[in-house]
Amino acid sequence: MYVETQAIARKPITVPALKVMKREGRKIVALTAYDASFAHQLEVAGIDLVLVGDSLGMVVQGHDSTLPVTLDDMVYHCTMVCRGLRASMLVADLPFMSYRNIGHALQASARLMAEGGAVMVKLEGAGWVCEIIQHLAEREVPVCAHLGLTPQSVHKLGGYRVQGRDEETAEHLLVEARAVQQAGASLLVLEAVPATLAQRISHELVIPTIGIGAGADCDGQILVLYDILGITPGKRPRFSKDFLHDHGSIQEALRAYAEDVRSSRFPTPDHCY
Ligand code: KIV
Repeated sequence: MYVETQAIARKPITVPALKVMKREGRKIVALTAYDASFAHQLEVAGIDLVLVGDSLGMVVQGHDSTLPVTLDDMVYHCTMVCRGLRASMLVADLPFMSYRNIGHALQASARLMAEGGAVMVKLEGAGWVCEIIQHLAEREVPVCAHLGLTPQSVHKLGGYRVQGRDEETAEHLLVEARAVQQAGASLLVLEAVPATLAQRISHELVIPTIGIGAGADCDGQILVLYDILGITPGKRPRFSKDFLHDHGSIQEALRAYAEDVRSSRFPTPDHCY
């Protein structure tokens, strides 16, 4: 609501527009947000896509994983972020176990879209998840898939580790990427995978890829907001960068991030695997 007072002449980012951006080689700039004030800052900085990530379980709630985040938590944060946005696209994570079957996935997505104002929902994995993606996509729910390091699988993976390092796991990830696209996903987040693999996947798929620790050749980049402002407690992941450190304000840091992604200055090889 209060963004209406800002003279922002940007066209709203739509789902089809993301595909056009990929085709035209224009990078998609994405960040997470969890409340209206930061969402407003992202909107003003011209961030294309704002994710209410279940990373909020770690950076806002102080848990050591994303698993305790509930659907109510996600809807609550989504409604706040939505009030700060106008042209940026709002994407919301389906939290752990909220898409364990088709009925739950439909209900959870309906809440995130109807109550929370999300335009797209994100969910992790392939395999059985492809059927869920297909059902959501067939019922007009735009879906973002998420492969590579999938934090909701932290216990199965044995930690927050880079995925797809050897030939067999890389091939498996490529197969999964094809499968989520085939199931109807409109977007794919690739987290913590070698840059060469992400490049191969991005080149092959027609849907845009958004990388986080996946190299410069993805069609867009996403980072956790608190990481780029240097306020996440503990060690910052190698693939992230404190943009506030070299800039005088949050708004300048956000604009620097957006510019660096759009001009392929970020990520550098130092941020890649
Ligand atoms: O939850 C989250 O913030 C995410 C991004 C890091 C991609 O999934």
